[in-house]
Amino acid sequence: MDGNGRWAKQRHLPRVAGHAKGALQAKQVIKACAALEIEHITLYAFSTENWARPAEEVSALMGLFLKHLKGELKGMVERGVRLKILGDISEFSSELRDAIAHAEHMTAAGDRIQVNVAANYGGRSELVSAVRQWMASHPGASPHAFDEDAIRQNLLTQGIPEPDLLIRTGGECRLSNFLLWQSAYTELYFTDTLWPDFDAKALDAAIAWYKQRERRFGKTSEQIAVVKP
Ligand code: IPE
Ligand code: MG
Repeated sequence: MDGNGRWAKQRHLPRVAGHAKGALQAKQVIKACAALEIEHITLYAFSTENWARPAEEVSALMGLFLKHLKGELKGMVERGVRLKILGDISEFSSELRDAIAHAEHMTAAGDRIQVNVAANYGGRSELVSAVRQWMASHPGASPHAFDEDAIRQNLLTQGIPEPDLLIRTGGECRLSNFLLWQSAYTELYFTDTLWPDFDAKALDAAIAWYKQRERRFGKTSEQIAVVKP
Protein backbone atom coordinates (compact mmCIF):
# COMPACT_ATOMS: atom_id res chain seq x y z
CA MET A 1 0.00 0.00 0.00
CA ASP A 2 2.25 2.76 -1.26
CA GLY A 3 1.79 6.46 -1.75
CA ASN A 4 0.37 7.65 1.57
CA GLY A 5 3.17 10.17 2.06
CA ARG A 6 2.88 11.61 -1.44
CA TRP A 7 -0.89 11.83 -1.15
CA ALA A 8 -0.46 13.93 1.98
CA LYS A 9 2.29 16.06 0.43
CA GLN A 10 0.07 16.90 -2.55
CA ARG A 11 -2.41 18.33 -0.06
CA HIS A 12 0.20 20.08 2.10
CA LEU A 13 -0.67 17.76 4.97
CA PRO A 14 1.72 15.88 7.28
CA ARG A 15 2.65 12.35 6.15
CA VAL A 16 0.66 10.92 9.03
CA ALA A 17 -2.55 12.32 7.47
CA GLY A 18 -1.78 10.18 4.42
CA HIS A 19 -1.42 7.10 6.58
CA ALA A 20 -4.72 7.89 8.30
CA LYS A 21 -6.47 8.17 4.93
CA GLY A 22 -4.69 5.02 3.76
CA ALA A 23 -6.07 3.08 6.71
CA LEU A 24 -9.62 4.25 5.89
CA GLN A 25 -9.03 3.27 2.29
CA ALA A 26 -7.95 -0.22 3.37
CA LYS A 27 -11.32 -0.61 5.07
CA GLN A 28 -13.14 0.39 1.85
CA VAL A 29 -11.06 -2.00 -0.24
CA ILE A 30 -11.73 -4.88 2.17
CA LYS A 31 -15.47 -4.18 1.89
CA ALA A 32 -15.25 -4.08 -1.91
CA CYS A 33 -13.34 -7.39 -1.91
CA ALA A 34 -15.95 -9.01 0.33
CA ALA A 35 -18.69 -7.79 -2.02
CA LEU A 36 -16.81 -9.42 -4.89
CA GLU A 37 -16.64 -12.66 -2.86
CA ILE A 38 -12.86 -12.55 -2.71
CA GLU A 39 -11.93 -14.92 0.08
CA HIS A 40 -8.47 -13.65 1.01
CA ILE A 41 -6.77 -10.28 0.94
CA THR A 42 -3.33 -9.54 2.33
CA LEU A 43 -2.42 -5.95 3.10
CA TYR A 44 1.23 -5.00 3.46
CA ALA A 45 0.94 -2.52 6.30
CA PHE A 46 4.44 -2.40 7.77
CA SER A 47 7.64 -4.03 6.58
CA THR A 48 10.62 -5.06 8.67
CA GLU A 49 12.45 -2.20 6.90
CA ASN A 50 9.86 0.42 7.91
CA TRP A 51 11.38 0.65 11.43
CA ALA A 52 14.06 2.80 9.79
CA ARG A 53 11.55 5.63 9.23
CA PRO A 54 11.51 8.65 11.57
CA ALA A 55 10.47 7.58 15.07
CA GLU A 56 7.40 9.81 15.08
CA GLU A 57 6.14 8.28 11.82
CA VAL A 58 6.69 4.74 13.14
CA SER A 59 4.87 5.63 16.31
CA ALA A 60 1.98 7.20 14.35
CA LEU A 61 1.69 4.03 12.24
CA MET A 62 1.59 1.88 15.39
CA GLY A 63 -1.04 4.21 16.82
CA LEU A 64 -3.20 3.88 13.71
CA PHE A 65 -2.84 0.11 13.75
CA LEU A 66 -3.97 -0.04 17.38
CA LYS A 67 -6.83 2.41 16.81
CA HIS A 68 -8.25 0.45 13.88
CA LEU A 69 -7.75 -2.94 15.50
CA LYS A 70 -9.91 -1.76 18.37
CA GLY A 71 -12.31 0.49 16.47
CA GLU A 72 -13.06 -1.95 13.64
CA LEU A 73 -13.32 -5.11 15.71
CA LYS A 74 -17.09 -5.07 16.13
CA GLY A 75 -17.62 -4.30 12.43
CA MET A 76 -15.21 -7.04 11.40
CA VAL A 77 -17.06 -9.62 13.47
CA GLU A 78 -20.41 -8.46 12.03
CA ARG A 79 -19.15 -8.61 8.47
CA GLY A 80 -17.63 -12.09 8.79
CA VAL A 81 -14.02 -10.97 8.60
CA ARG A 82 -11.35 -13.33 9.91
CA LEU A 83 -8.26 -11.32 10.79
CA LYS A 84 -4.75 -12.70 10.78
CA ILE A 85 -1.53 -10.80 11.32
CA LEU A 86 1.50 -12.01 9.37
CA GLY A 87 4.83 -10.97 10.83
CA ASP A 88 6.97 -10.87 13.91
CA ILE A 89 4.71 -9.14 16.40
CA SER A 90 7.16 -9.68 19.29
CA GLU A 91 8.70 -6.28 18.51
CA PHE A 92 5.39 -4.47 19.00
CA SER A 93 4.25 -2.94 22.30
CA SER A 94 2.44 -5.25 24.70
CA GLU A 95 -0.73 -3.19 24.20
CA LEU A 96 -0.60 -3.75 20.45
CA ARG A 97 0.24 -7.45 20.86
CA ASP A 98 -2.74 -7.89 23.18
CA ALA A 99 -5.05 -6.08 20.75
CA ILE A 100 -3.82 -8.32 17.91
CA ALA A 101 -4.37 -11.50 19.94
CA HIS A 102 -7.82 -10.30 20.99
CA ALA A 103 -8.87 -9.33 17.45
CA GLU A 104 -7.60 -12.61 15.98
CA HIS A 105 -9.44 -14.55 18.65
CA MET A 106 -12.69 -12.61 18.28
CA THR A 107 -12.73 -12.90 14.48
CA ALA A 108 -11.59 -16.53 14.30
CA ALA A 109 -15.04 -17.73 13.19
CA GLY A 110 -15.32 -15.15 10.37
CA ASP A 111 -16.15 -17.04 7.18
CA ARG A 112 -16.75 -14.34 4.58
CA ILE A 113 -13.28 -12.97 3.98
CA GLN A 114 -9.89 -13.52 5.58
CA VAL A 115 -7.95 -10.31 5.96
CA ASN A 116 -4.25 -10.89 6.45
CA VAL A 117 -2.29 -7.88 7.60
CA ALA A 118 1.44 -8.15 7.01
CA ALA A 119 2.93 -6.19 9.90
CA ASN A 120 6.63 -6.25 10.73
CA TYR A 121 6.71 -8.65 7.82
CA GLY A 122 9.64 -9.39 5.51
CA GLY A 123 9.69 -12.16 2.92
CA ARG A 124 13.35 -13.01 3.40
CA SER A 125 13.15 -13.30 7.16
CA GLU A 126 9.98 -15.37 6.75
CA LEU A 127 11.95 -17.83 4.60
CA VAL A 128 14.83 -17.99 7.08
CA SER A 129 12.37 -18.64 9.92
CA ALA A 130 10.65 -21.35 7.89
CA VAL A 131 13.93 -23.19 7.32
CA ARG A 132 14.94 -22.82 10.98
CA GLN A 133 11.57 -24.09 12.13
CA TRP A 134 11.79 -27.12 9.84
CA MET A 135 15.35 -27.91 11.01
CA ALA A 136 14.31 -27.65 14.65
CA SER A 137 11.46 -30.11 14.10
CA HIS A 138 13.63 -32.51 12.07
CA PRO A 139 16.86 -32.92 14.04
CA GLY A 140 19.51 -34.84 12.13
CA ALA A 141 17.37 -35.01 8.96
CA SER A 142 19.04 -35.67 5.61
CA PRO A 143 19.21 -32.60 3.34
CA HIS A 144 17.19 -34.67 0.84
CA ALA A 145 14.26 -34.67 3.23
CA PHE A 146 14.10 -30.90 2.82
CA ASP A 147 11.82 -29.90 -0.03
CA GLU A 148 9.35 -27.25 -1.18
CA ASP A 149 6.66 -28.56 1.13
CA ALA A 150 9.08 -28.19 4.04
CA ILE A 151 9.26 -24.49 3.29
CA ARG A 152 5.58 -24.07 2.43
CA GLN A 153 4.42 -25.71 5.63
CA ASN A 154 6.59 -23.46 7.78
CA LEU A 155 5.73 -20.12 6.23
CA LEU A 156 3.54 -17.61 8.07
CA THR A 157 1.00 -18.08 5.27
CA GLN A 158 0.49 -21.76 6.02
CA GLY A 159 -3.10 -22.59 5.03
CA ILE A 160 -3.53 -19.37 3.04
CA PRO A 161 -3.72 -19.82 -0.75
CA GLU A 162 -1.00 -18.21 -2.87
CA PRO A 163 -2.11 -14.82 -4.19
CA ASP A 164 -3.68 -14.70 -7.65
CA LEU A 165 -3.19 -10.97 -8.00
CA LEU A 166 -0.72 -8.60 -6.36
CA ILE A 167 -1.49 -4.89 -6.59
CA ARG A 168 1.30 -2.38 -6.05
CA THR A 169 0.14 1.20 -5.82
CA GLY A 170 2.08 4.46 -5.89
CA GLY A 171 4.04 3.80 -9.08
CA GLU A 172 6.68 1.54 -7.53
CA CYS A 173 7.57 -1.49 -9.64
CA ARG A 174 9.05 -3.84 -7.09
CA LEU A 175 7.96 -6.41 -4.51
CA SER A 176 9.77 -4.78 -1.57
CA ASN A 177 10.20 -8.09 0.26
CA PHE A 178 6.51 -8.99 0.10
CA LEU A 179 5.43 -12.65 -0.13
CA LEU A 180 8.56 -13.61 -2.07
CA TRP A 181 7.90 -17.35 -2.06
CA GLN A 182 4.14 -17.13 -2.37
CA SER A 183 4.06 -14.78 -5.36
CA ALA A 184 6.08 -17.02 -7.70
CA TYR A 185 3.08 -17.33 -10.07
CA THR A 186 1.12 -14.30 -9.00
CA GLU A 187 -0.05 -11.76 -11.59
CA LEU A 188 1.65 -8.46 -10.77
CA TYR A 189 -0.32 -5.25 -11.27
CA PHE A 190 1.41 -1.91 -10.97
CA THR A 191 -0.50 1.33 -10.84
CA ASP A 192 0.49 4.96 -10.34
CA THR A 193 -2.61 5.50 -8.22
CA LEU A 194 -1.58 6.46 -4.69
CA TRP A 195 -2.96 4.09 -2.05
CA PRO A 196 -5.26 6.70 -0.41
CA ASP A 197 -6.88 7.17 -3.84
CA PHE A 198 -7.20 3.44 -4.54
CA ASP A 199 -10.97 2.93 -4.33
CA ALA A 200 -13.50 0.30 -5.43
CA LYS A 201 -13.29 1.61 -9.01
CA ALA A 202 -9.51 1.23 -9.02
CA LEU A 203 -9.93 -2.28 -7.63
CA ASP A 204 -12.38 -3.09 -10.44
CA ALA A 205 -9.81 -1.92 -13.00
CA ALA A 206 -7.14 -4.14 -11.45
CA ILE A 207 -9.46 -7.13 -11.47
CA ALA A 208 -10.52 -6.47 -15.08
CA TRP A 209 -6.80 -6.49 -15.98
CA TYR A 210 -6.32 -9.71 -14.03
CA LYS A 211 -9.21 -11.40 -15.81
CA GLN A 212 -7.62 -10.94 -19.21
CA ARG A 213 -4.33 -12.44 -18.08
CA GLU A 214 -3.66 -16.01 -19.18
CA ARG A 215 -2.30 -17.99 -16.26
CA ARG A 216 -0.11 -20.71 -17.72
CA PHE A 217 1.91 -21.84 -14.67
CA GLY A 218 4.78 -22.79 -17.00
CA LYS A 219 2.60 -24.53 -19.60
CA THR A 220 1.93 -23.43 -23.19
CA SER A 221 -1.04 -21.40 -24.28
CA GLU A 222 -2.37 -24.44 -26.22
CA GLN A 223 -2.26 -26.69 -23.15
CA ILE A 224 -4.20 -24.14 -21.15
CA ALA A 225 -6.84 -23.85 -23.92
CA VAL A 226 -7.53 -27.61 -23.66
CA VAL A 227 -8.48 -27.50 -19.99
CA LYS A 228 -10.71 -24.42 -20.32
CA PRO A 229 -14.40 -25.31 -20.00
C1 IPE B 1 2.59 3.81 2.87
O1 IPE B 1 3.06 4.69 1.92
C2 IPE B 1 3.58 2.76 3.31
C3 IPE B 1 3.53 2.42 4.76
C4 IPE B 1 4.61 2.05 5.43
C5 IPE B 1 2.27 2.48 5.51
P1 IPE B 1 4.41 5.55 2.02
O2 IPE B 1 4.56 6.09 3.39
O3 IPE B 1 5.55 4.71 1.54
O4 IPE B 1 4.10 6.71 1.00
P2 IPE B 1 5.12 7.49 0.06
O5 IPE B 1 5.90 6.47 -0.72
O6 IPE B 1 6.00 8.33 0.93
O7 IPE B 1 4.23 8.30 -0.83
MG1 MG C 1 6.61 4.58 -0.22
